Amino acid sequence: MTSARLHLDGQIHEFPVIHGTEDEVGIEIGQLRSQTGAITLDSGFTSTGACTSSITYIDGANGILRYRGYPIEQLAEESDFAEVAYLLLYGELPNAEQSAAFRADLTYHSMIHEDMKKFFEGFPPNAHPMAILSAMVASLSTYYPGTEKESRDANFVRLIAKIRTLAAYAYKKSIGQPTIYPRNDLSYGENFLHMMFAVPAEEYQVNPVMVKALNMLLILHADHEQNCSTATVRMVGSSRANIFAAISSGICALWGPLHGGANQKVLEMLEVMEKDGGGYQKWIDKAKDKNDEFRLMGFGHRVYKNFDPRATILRKMTGEVLEELGMEDPLLEIAKNLERVALEDSYFVERNLYPNVDFYSGILYRAMGIPTNMFTVMFAIGRLPGWLAHWKELREDESARIYRPRQIYTGPNERKYEPLAGRG
Ligand code: CMC
Repeated sequence: MTSARLHLDGQIHEFPVIHGTEDEVGIEIGQLRSQTGAITLDSGFTSTGACTSSITYIDGANGILRYRGYPIEQLAEESDFAEVAYLLLYGELPNAEQSAAFRADLTYHSMIHEDMKKFFEGFPPNAHPMAILSAMVASLSTYYPGTEKESRDANFVRLIAKIRTLAAYAYKKSIGQPTIYPRNDLSYGENFLHMMFAVPAEEYQVNPVMVKALNMLLILHADHEQNCSTATVRMVGSSRANIFAAISSGICALWGPLHGGANQKVLEMLEVMEKDGGGYQKWIDKAKDKNDEFRLMGFGHRVYKNFDPRATILRKMTGEVLEELGMEDPLLEIAKNLERVALEDSYFVERNLYPNVDFYSGILYRAMGIPTNMFTVMFAIGRLPGWLAHWKELREDESARIYRPRQIYTGPNERKYEPLAGRG
């Protein structure tokens, strides 16, 4: 298949067909409007590709997710977050020298400018950490105003290194504790846990089980091709706004409950179910009721129509980590039972609604001592390398133009302005 034909108003128009490396098929309709005067309309971009990309491959029907060709299962089991970040950014796994240099860079860029600590003082104590994070990331641009060309790689490292410091500071601020500086002898994940949970009065020992779980969680979230927040980063990046502005916009898009904000909502939902104690059927019925706003949070996905491989890994990992930590969480049982009841219901079966990455992640975060309102921040730390890789891909694509969708106007036709006195 090399071209597609469109019959419109008695005329035939031909458009080139493009094939991806996994045989995905796209019809290039860039010339559609100039040739025919018509545009395509695809609310929610269900069938619209905004770019070609060589970063992440998803096969939603078969539950396949690969970063740069590597299956997510292998990366989650055998790699760590710093290595995956390098892979996403530069397209290949690092060799020993590249790996050491990248990790050293992440270590030596982890502090934020001392003046920035004052910003935290201005937020109210109950400020949502996603608001703080997006504001702080945008503010980094004031400290690193260098031109894009000379500071591109340095800014990647700065952002990946500093986002966990900003996140940990936001948490410390919310509980009224002093901020803890990063340590150069700790790995990426260890340093985050240290900044989150150490207190000046006590020695803090990082638990290796937590570090392994954290690395796995961050890897599972690291990229997911053209999702809402990544598309936002590309959109903002296409206007050539600075990288900090683009990432800050991605953080805001991620915050929404239909996207990354779902992980917070899942845990809140499970807690309500636990308190209620009245079984699962009534929640399933509420989720099915079109007059009820309630949805089963952590269920459903635009792309996965069979299973979300990230949820499969997380379901298994959550049980294992709780066991290793010698912890029990009644919410894990509730989640598993809810999943079972939902997957036996024809409403969920017919619509291909399965647990997604957000369904089990909260239980794992909770076991690590991370508070519920920080869950989406954890997602943002994980997704950052993906956002940066997409921003880089966009900026290196010489054919990339500013993102500017069209619309079909459905408002009033031209009418005459009536001064206030003359209006009925
Ligand atoms: N509970 C009940 N019904 C649902 C749910 C749900 N969680 N998800 C979808 N549906 C129904 C929806 O009402 C619609 O039914 P009908 O065809 O009768 O109108 C049908 O399933 C298709 O749903 P949709 O909203 O058109 O699908 P979408 O692709 O636009 O939305 C989604 C995908 C993830 C936003 C949606 O499934 C949802 O709201 N899920 C709950 C929120 C959630 O868990 N979000 C995290 C997504 S994964 C992490 C990430 O990538 O951010």
